[in-house]
Parts: sequence; C-alpha cells; structure tokens
Amino acid sequence: MAITFSMDGKEITAEENQTLLEAARENGIDIPTICFHEATTANALCRICVVEVEGMRTLQPACIIKAASQMKVQTRSERVVRARRTILEMLASTMDLSESPEIQKMMKDYGADANRFPDAERRESEVKDDNPMYVRDYSKCLLCWRCVQVCAEDAQYTFAINFSGRGFETQIATFYDRTIPETSCVLCGQCVAVCPTGALKPKREFLLEQGMTPQQIGVLNSGRKKRK
Ligand code: SF4
Ligand code: FES
Repeated sequence: MAITFSMDGKEITAEENQTLLEAARENGIDIPTICFHEATTANALCRICVVEVEGMRTLQPACIIKAASQMKVQTRSERVVRARRTILEMLASTMDLSESPEIQKMMKDYGADANRFPDAERRESEVKDDNPMYVRDYSKCLLCWRCVQVCAEDAQYTFAINFSGRGFETQIATFYDRTIPETSCVLCGQCVAVCPTGALKPKREFLLEQGMTPQQIGVLNSGRKKRK
C-alpha cells in the first residue's frame, strides 16, 4: 500500500514497508550512510544517517526507520547536521580514516574538525598478515559489522569472524583470535569487498603499497602454490 509523508517539506509517496533512507534515495534526497550496505542487513550502528522526525524526541536512523503516513521528516536540520558532524569528529579522533575517501568527503561537507577530541583514545592495531588473500588492519575499523554479516547469514554462512571484547575494547576478530587459516574462512573475499575503510585489504594491494613489484608478488604466489 502506498503512503504519503513529508520529507524536507516535500510530499513523498512511498511503499508502506520502505525505510526513510529508501524513500529519500528514490526521491533524490541525499542522506549519508556508513554502516549501511545494500548487501547486508541494516543494523543502524554508525548513526550517520540520523534524521529528525516530528514528534520523536531523539534523532532516528533513516536506514532502519520505516516511513509512515503523515510523518514529517527533516534530513538536514541544524540538529541533524550537528549530530552528523559530531559522529564524524568522533570517528576521526579514534581511528585511521586515511583510506576512507567517502568519509573524508563527508567530513568536508559537514565541516567536521578531525582534531575536535584531541584526548580521545585511538584504536591502534598491528596489521594482521596471516593468509594469502587479505590483510587486516583494525586501526582502520569502525565496527560497521558489514564483514561479519557477509561472513554469516547475509551471504556466506561461514562464521569465521565476529565481534569480540566489550566497550572500547570491542573489535572484529576470529574465534580465540586464531589466524585466518585456522578458522572456517574460505577466502571468498566478500568481507574485503564490503569493508568501507580499508581495514580489510587485498594482499596484493598491501604488498604493492609495501614497495614490492608485481613480479616479486608473482614469485611469492607461485612459491606458495608449489608448497601446497
Ligand atoms: S573490518 Fe571493515 S567491514 Fe569489518 S567492521 Fe571493520 S570497517 Fe566494517
Ligand atoms: S547508515 Fe544508518 S546507522 Fe549507519
């Protein structure tokens, strides 16, 4: 059944089950997203997509809130912009966004100050290089959960990775922090494909950045195949 509601003063017609994000996108209204990905179940973890809904006390994540008849939604009010800017500033203060061009662009758009929280504890991690396909650098991880979801019910049903730890210690990890070859991982690469920050990176790209030539990488790979 079709419903109508208002978004930024514009009358919008949407299907009853559509989220505010879907309705916005169909109507050319831009709402930024970070954790949301078409291939994964929306979990509303990052909160960058928040909007103001008349009558609701708190800002609402557009990626999971369903459009309803007569709703009045503001996607770019002062309160919304301030909230998004703060989220971006918190991300920039706690993790490495150097390989997240989309988030860097959002920071510019929202006038976010990367040094707003100078005393914030940064997420530091050694690069985990333990398999032939990809490396993991959790200092760049914003815990969007996409990789865990595609590894599980959203795609692969492999369950090689999950959240571990609590609070600020929360991170993505294998069970008992085992190396990737010791897990059920089948090296399908889907986690790497959905990672928005470069925390998961193809091994070849990583080795090229480390200064190896394509020839040296080829020799490395053929040696690995022979050892199998
Ligand atoms: S590793 Fe990438 S995909 Fe996985 S939670 Fe972190 S940022 Fe998201
Ligand atoms: S995109 Fe909606 S909460 Fe992250």
